[in-house]
Amino acid sequence: MPPLTVAVTGAAGQIGYALLMRIASGEMLGKDQPVRLQLIETKQGMAPLKGVMMELEDGAFPLLESVKGTSDLEEGFGDANFSLLVGAMPRKQGMERSDLLSANAAIFADQGKALSAAAAPGSRVLIVGNPANTNALVAAANAPDMLPEQFMAMTRLDQSRAEGMLAEKAGVDVKDVDRVIIWGNHSATQYPDLSHARIGGKWAKDVIKDEKWLTGDFVSRVQKRGAEVIAARGASSAASAASAAIDNIRDVHLGSEKWQSIGVLSDGSYGIGGGLWYSVPCACPGLHYTRVKGLPIDEYSAKMMNTTEAELVAERDSVRHLLPSSYDAGVPLQKLVDLKDAWTANDSARSRTVGYSTAELRYTGRKLILPFHHQGVRLFPGVLVYTAMSPPPPESDGASPPPPPSGKAGKRTARLFGSSLAGVIELFGFHPVDTVAKRLMNEPGQIRVPGAPMSVSVDAYSRVIFRDAHASSSALVKYTSLFPGLSFAAGYKIAQRVYKFGGQPVVTEALTRRYQGAVGSVVGESRAKPLLHASAGALIGVGEIVLLPLDVLKIKSQNNPEALRGRGLVSILRQESLCGLYRGAGWTAARNAPGSFSLFGASALVKERVFGLERYNDATFGQNFVASVAGGVASITVASPLDVIKTRLQTRDFSSTVTGGQLLRDLVRHEGPSAFFKGLVPKLLVVGPKLVFSFTIAQHTIATLERWFEASSDSA
Ligand code: NAD
Ligand code: LMR
Repeated sequence: MPPLTVAVTGAAGQIGYALLMRIASGEMLGKDQPVRLQLIETKQGMAPLKGVMMELEDGAFPLLESVKGTSDLEEGFGDANFSLLVGAMPRKQGMERSDLLSANAAIFADQGKALSAAAAPGSRVLIVGNPANTNALVAAANAPDMLPEQFMAMTRLDQSRAEGMLAEKAGVDVKDVDRVIIWGNHSATQYPDLSHARIGGKWAKDVIKDEKWLTGDFVSRVQKRGAEVIAARGASSAASAASAAIDNIRDVHLGSEKWQSIGVLSDGSYGIGGGLWYSVPCACPGLHYTRVKGLPIDEYSAKMMNTTEAELVAERDSVRHLLPSSYDAGVPLQKLVDLKDAWTANDSARSRTVGYSTAELRYTGRKLILPFHHQGVRLFPGVLVYTAMSPPPPESDGASPPPPPSGKAGKRTARLFGSSLAGVIELFGFHPVDTVAKRLMNEPGQIRVPGAPMSVSVDAYSRVIFRDAHASSSALVKYTSLFPGLSFAAGYKIAQRVYKFGGQPVVTEALTRRYQGAVGSVVGESRAKPLLHASAGALIGVGEIVLLPLDVLKIKSQNNPEALRGRGLVSILRQESLCGLYRGAGWTAARNAPGSFSLFGASALVKERVFGLERYNDATFGQNFVASVAGGVASITVASPLDVIKTRLQTRDFSSTVTGGQLLRDLVRHEGPSAFFKGLVPKLLVVGPKLVFSFTIAQHTIATLERWFEASSDSA
């Protein structure tokens, strides 16, 4: 896995000291993610920083690829994927955080400029140094080539404090608490809000039933916790702040089912605008965050939210001198949409770029830097469009306790049902057609009786097609007679479809979560998604060899029935060695990997490039069909050479010792390379429709059900 670069300012300070070892040990970006640390300190801070760097070296962290210390901002932020801006003066007893404004805010103007010039595209910045929210505003406003979404102000410590207090009050583990929200400023005006919180899936208000505590003691304790720590410790919180910073970045990067409060650009939701960095609840699906919008706000909450907003407005106004003159704090989003439309209509403005997503939109004035969590980059005449990877999070009506996360269970059900349905329909739709074709082909005599009336010929065909069931008057009996020797085929087909069509989305999700950033930076954002789909397909294809015994028995029952005659499945399994049933596993894996890569990759590519779908799940039935045709044709063609070898291997008697290598050599020597494509046309004509049909059914059913589960969990 390529390393990610993390820059930390104030690295020799208290928080820095508590932070660095944990980043180095993989607690922030994942236990298998190599990291490079770039530590930034003031000139005076360089001496203690040297000691910290020695300790990092002595820690011998396997994930730590390199450590650099510098007081040069551009060098420190160079190519950083994550920047933690900690370096600033901490408050002393008796001070409010806003008292630090004049001392600290200027630091962040310089850092914003340096980040904009040097950090990696799409990097994430977390501002910890106080007053964190307004420092974030200053940094973002001074970073012309970055998007506001890249800057986060840390209120996670307040959230953790609130969760701890709530868990203690309810006598539960802190892990059972979620949806605690911190609104507004990381200051004594912040509003820790429990009106949406859940304890063990129940509404916190129903568990605590102590209104006075909920809106009184609890709120003021969270607001003043920082001061309480300073009074007790003689210094501001450090280890817990470092922990909160780790939690914040980890949840955004690796994803979390819980909401996380983050200070982000106020976008007008909840009536808060004005270009403030205001803390709101965010959903963290992995690699990015989205604001949770539409929560109902009661009168008390509205008052609390306005108070903290007013403080942020005052802070913003006091740092106006640090904001570039072009900074327009209150630009409504609509205005930016209009700009985009104007440019879309004007081809000559090709060099201008505009970005928007369904949820957020921002024109950066110079060039658009795409955060790596965004994808679906498409170039239309005169406009570069980027689209968010996921839709905005569900809006809760808050009238009842929000349901426990049902996303995973819903997805599992959707995938299991959709893929089994595909297998079953494929089996019951295509197997009889196969049987009819075989029976007609095997019939030696003439079926149609020349000169006889139509009814006689129909009767003759029926005799050939339905054999013994011909005499039956029941259509069902006739239909079931078309399923001879079904057991292997049925078991294999359904298991295979569930495994493949149901399993691939799971693997895609896992790969996306882990590697999307890295893949995107190598192949570009727009190619990353289809590539991840294709890679997940390849992995699933290789794993499919688990089902090989069923496949072998199916093929033998079709091509070499003598090898199986008179033997039940149990007796075959008992008598044949496992090796016999796994013969050709390597070749099957070698065939499946490119085949399955192409199936899912081509389908994803069509959805991405041809239909321009942001979310593949939004494809219509027709689009799924076209994508499946592309996938099916690509897959059968690419897999053809190895399929020939695999089929020849599996058709041999169990006793045959011919290896795949020998078969391959003989084939090239005696039949020439074109033999690799023997049977390709009939395969495309026979296997193609089946594959396309079941892939379409699976994709469409899974997507429809996933959307349905999503919608029903939103409205629950
Ligand atoms: P500290 O004094 O121990 O360390 C600060 C470090 O920053 C020092 O080593 C100093 O040399 C360095 N520094 C100062 N200016 C710098 C600059 N321009 N560039 C690079 N380095 C610089 O302080 P700390 O306890 O680590 O706290 C750091 C900041 O974090 C404070 O502002 C504090 O109030 C804030 N904080 C925020 C939260 C939060 O929840 N958001 C929580 C705790 C502390
Ligand atoms: C905290 O909340 O502990 C920090 O912001 C430090 C402070 O000044 O309160």
